[in-house]
Amino acid sequence: MVSYKDLGFVNTREMMGKALNGGYAVPAYNFNNMEQLQAIITACVETQSPVILQISKGARKYANQTLLRYLGQGAVEMMKVMAKEKGLKEIPMALHLDHGDSYELCVSCIESGFSSVMIDASSLPFDENVALTKKVVDYAHPYDVTVEGELGVLAGIEEHVKSEETHYTKPEEVEEFVKRTGVDSLAISIGTSHGANKFKPEQCTRNEDGVLIPPPLRFDILEEVEKRIPGFQIVLHGSSSVPREAIKTINEYGGTLKDSIGIPEEQLQKAVKYNVCKVNIDSDGRLWMTAAVRKHLVEHPEDFDPRKYLGPAREALINMYKHKNENVLNSAGKT
Ligand code: G3H
Ligand code: 13P
Ligand code: ZN
Repeated sequence: MVSYKDLGFVNTREMMGKALNGGYAVPAYNFNNMEQLQAIITACVETQSPVILQISKGARKYANQTLLRYLGQGAVEMMKVMAKEKGLKEIPMALHLDHGDSYELCVSCIESGFSSVMIDASSLPFDENVALTKKVVDYAHPYDVTVEGELGVLAGIEEHVKSEETHYTKPEEVEEFVKRTGVDSLAISIGTSHGANKFKPEQCTRNEDGVLIPPPLRFDILEEVEKRIPGFQIVLHGSSSVPREAIKTINEYGGTLKDSIGIPEEQLQKAVKYNVCKVNIDSDGRLWMTAAVRKHLVEHPEDFDPRKYLGPAREALINMYKHKNENVLNSAGKT
């Protein structure tokens, strides 16, 4: 058993509690590889933002769980060295399992030094979701490990779950869920979804420049949830904005991404004014990384050293994460 505290990670519930009281959301950024991790740490040190490093089940499998664990464990050391070199303060970091789908996976992550786990049993019937979430909470809490549960289903495709439709969170269920499970935070479904195609064009309207504007998030549901569990920590998944610039670059350099529509940043800024204190972003990183790699390889067909194209990709990611911290989540300067 390795405790997250011994690795230098902080308690996720306490980190999110500070965000809730401070009017900002902690960014929760997914990573699968070294360049993504370096970019997250660099951007968060430079903007002095707390951060939750997220590893999904698929990321663990892709990168090899042992290798990824050591990369994750080295993250705090990496951050300390970077902060010192830049003459900046060290930042609070947490390591989190994203979309854990079994008790065994959550236990394995807790034992290898994760500060928090998500048990995503949202596709199960309510009572089964309660039972599995509670089982994870009962294991995690004696180690002071934070647990995130989910009610409602987000549309979109992940490695483990594919849902065609959104099932909004039912506010009338949240109080019982939180009471019976003892979870520390709750992911809810209010109109965000996973991936780069969050809305169909026919669901959107066009502004005067012809840009597709998606329907607003269901803030009415968020308000109802907050009435029933006041002060409770709420998590927003599927929060990528799918920047037009990144899509344009990808398609200009040979990509074929169609109908890519994300959550407008103003909607996220508004959500942060409620009790949303953790915002999950993965796809925007994937898009910017792909855009930079495509552009570089088309412009420099003679290059074959991965550092030549992964370097610019890492720079693009740094800029994107800094922008989110400074302009969207308001987490910059909150160390
Ligand atoms: O919400 C899911 C994350 O974007 C992780 O995706 O399961 O493909 O690693 P993944
Ligand atoms: P996006 O696909 O919108 O980046 O959502 C990521 C996410 O929710 C990770 O859990
Ligand atoms: Zn998610």
